[in-house]
Amino acid sequence: MKQKTILTGIRPTGNIHLGHYFGAVKTWKKLQDQDTPFYLEIADVQALTDNFHQPEKVRKNVRELTIDALACGIDPKKTNIFIQSMIPEIAELTVFYSNLVTIARLYRNPTVKAEMKQKKELFGEDGEGITYGFLGYPVSQAADITAFHGTHVPCGDDQIPLLEQCREIVRKFNNIYGNTLVEPEAILSENTRIKGLDGNEKMGKSLGNAIFLSDDEETVTKKIMGAVTDPEKLKKDDPANPDICMVYYYHKLVNQDYVDTVCSECKRGARGCVACKKELIASMLAFLKPIQEKRNYYLEHLEEVDEILKEGTENARKLAKETVQTIKEKMQIHYFE
Ligand code: TRP
Ligand code: SF4
Repeated sequence: MKQKTILTGIRPTGNIHLGHYFGAVKTWKKLQDQDTPFYLEIADVQALTDNFHQPEKVRKNVRELTIDALACGIDPKKTNIFIQSMIPEIAELTVFYSNLVTIARLYRNPTVKAEMKQKKELFGEDGEGITYGFLGYPVSQAADITAFHGTHVPCGDDQIPLLEQCREIVRKFNNIYGNTLVEPEAILSENTRIKGLDGNEKMGKSLGNAIFLSDDEETVTKKIMGAVTDPEKLKKDDPANPDICMVYYYHKLVNQDYVDTVCSECKRGARGCVACKKELIASMLAFLKPIQEKRNYYLEHLEEVDEILKEGTENARKLAKETVQTIKEKMQIHYFE
């Protein structure tokens, strides 16, 4: 049980954009090449905690997200992709663990607090309308991780409080019922937060500053032409500061071999913003092309996508069943075969 197992999850609420790609998916691709079991959970139950009123959105995005992940190079032979709601054992564990967490502790969870503030229309001005499900989703996330004996969780720094909550649950469980579960550790990606085209610290769909893997040429062109550059640069040959320019920022992500030239030309005033943006558009389209080709393949072969999800879910469920069996024995609620 002390074997290394990597587990991560993603909420199916939208398509993958560059923020997800460079912030997370790139790390997953590296991790799937290690000889360690890797589970990727499509967290539809968690997505419903703040999208319970729009089930069709969550449903649609389970497949969309899977297709995006496959298109990025997540390989179902190396990564076990599964759907959370199809593993009822996760829900069982959530109920068992709920005894090990106080309501006050959940209210203090910084991630829950921050998200509650962003969801005023659902949970009220001061969070007075928060649901039991949303407040408790860290408990369900602890079930996600421990159901598969996840020892390492690749994630962004916003997930640290959730991981800490999971570690506390594990410790409490082990204290009361005997040593059973492993405390997971985070694997932080180098670039957890990718800035938006507008210079915002975070790229996000709702912020309207994201480039999606599925964006076509016209959309990419329009978005990059509108990206924030050094506002003090008025003329083509004005020297500028690339460090405050989003065009330069994205050149660094998709055009690594060429960034030094972009940087020095920009500083010298030997580069116009329009030309610079056009170069970025070309590189971005070249970066997206193979991903979009794969995406189109899977869009035309939806039965393959379903097969991947079915197989991944079946595999994952076997392990979750074993875990629940062990946990029930430890909790003395296992009566007969
Ligand atoms: N909370 C994560 C997010 O919002 C998604 C998630 C669900 C997750 N279950 C997980 C992440 C288990 C890591 C481990 O992005
Ligand atoms: Fe940004 Fe390029 Fe303009 Fe410099 S030349 S400010 S890097 S767009």
